[in-house]
Amino acid sequence: GREACADTAPAEREAPVGGLAAPSCGGSASANLLAAPRVVMIDQRRLPGELAWISTDDWRQVVDAVKTLAVRGAPAIGVAGAAAVMLAAFELAAGRSLAPAGNCDASRPAAEGRNTPVSAEEHGGATQVTAEKYDELPSSAGTRDDAAHQVAPGDEASSAASSSPALFAARLRHVARQVAEARPTAVNLSWAVGRALETALEALKAGDTPQQAAEALYKLTEALIAEDEAANRAIGANGAALLRPLAQAKGASLNILTHCNAGSLATAFYGTALGVVYAAAEEGLVARVYADETRPVGQGARLTAWELARAGVPVTLICDNMAASLMAQGRIDAVVVGADRIAANGDAANKIGTLGVAVLARHFGVPFFVAAPESTRDGSCATGTDIPIEQRSATEVLPSPIEGVEVFNPAFDVTPAALIAAIVTEKGVWKPEH
Ligand code: MRU
Repeated sequence: GREACADTAPAEREAPVGGLAAPSCGGSASANLLAAPRVVMIDQRRLPGELAWISTDDWRQVVDAVKTLAVRGAPAIGVAGAAAVMLAAFELAAGRSLAPAGNCDASRPAAEGRNTPVSAEEHGGATQVTAEKYDELPSSAGTRDDAAHQVAPGDEASSAASSSPALFAARLRHVARQVAEARPTAVNLSWAVGRALETALEALKAGDTPQQAAEALYKLTEALIAEDEAANRAIGANGAALLRPLAQAKGASLNILTHCNAGSLATAFYGTALGVVYAAAEEGLVARVYADETRPVGQGARLTAWELARAGVPVTLICDNMAASLMAQGRIDAVVVGADRIAANGDAANKIGTLGVAVLARHFGVPFFVAAPESTRDGSCATGTDIPIEQRSATEVLPSPIEGVEVFNPAFDVTPAALIAAIVTEKGVWKPEH
């Protein structure tokens, strides 16, 4: 446990900062039930004031963290989702009961002692990624979905039987659905949860016990973390190759605008859009990053500016309404953003406000790039209109309600492919046909 953790936290991880730490921190894959694996995540709600981690062995706390944006960013919530299924599998294999899903309510404060911040020194960053969507999973493996509903969650009397493979499978499906539904827009969540569920069901089909299936999920979570970092580094290299000719044409390093946080914090480690920035900065291609503050939650101000400064990349924070002015003055050479879901035609959903930046970039002739792993592409959405957009609480926009005032708070918007110069993934550069 601890040694594996130390292995994943070399000095080079100090900047940039990984969004998740390896699940091996604090646990062991061959977990006996006294030392079940834990999941460790930076609590992004507390940044930039405090760098604190959530360390938990309770899948409900992971769902809570996803809903409340303690962990956020498409690839990071994918890894967290798979990790939540892994924790649930250990719990079920041990015959511990499932609490009602209501316990995951975002408004519920974390249960004492189960959601413990730990010091920065104790844990390092790490990585994620790859498979079918949750919806597309075979329902034949294990027990049918409806069996999960026949067993009331929290039913102590029957919980000891969770170690029977059929009941374990039914209950794990039930958990997986709740995890996958924590947030709707980033397809990485349902994709990673689907991969986890499939891994467990295949293990059972091959004759593994529930405990062995849980251990297979532990290994999967580690693999997803490693895959995410590898994908992000490849995205970085592919994106830097796109920026190189721009810097050559300019005869100087570039000023890059980004929106929201698609950095190390939003992934297991390194970042997608900021992965491009980090790789380009290593080549001396980046003069400065302008970070939109990103209303209403402030991911740009609280997270991107903090992360870039910590990584030693020159960064200037601007309000969302300042990008046009900067572009009009010729002070932005390229825009690089992440994505939460990319439709088959190249339309890309990302943090609310991204569309406005793309429209501005087109007007001022600034190339607009999207950087995301292949796991963010969703071929089942033909165009952006098929992408579900999460609506979030009015209090994010207006902390104290004003009588007679309604609030509209979509968390994402869709940038049409026609406004995107290129989509950068770990596999290469894709120019959607316009
Ligand atoms: O609501 P959030 O903070 O999870 O939204 C995140 C974004 O929109 C990111 O830009 C996107 O997930 C890409 S992260 C690599």
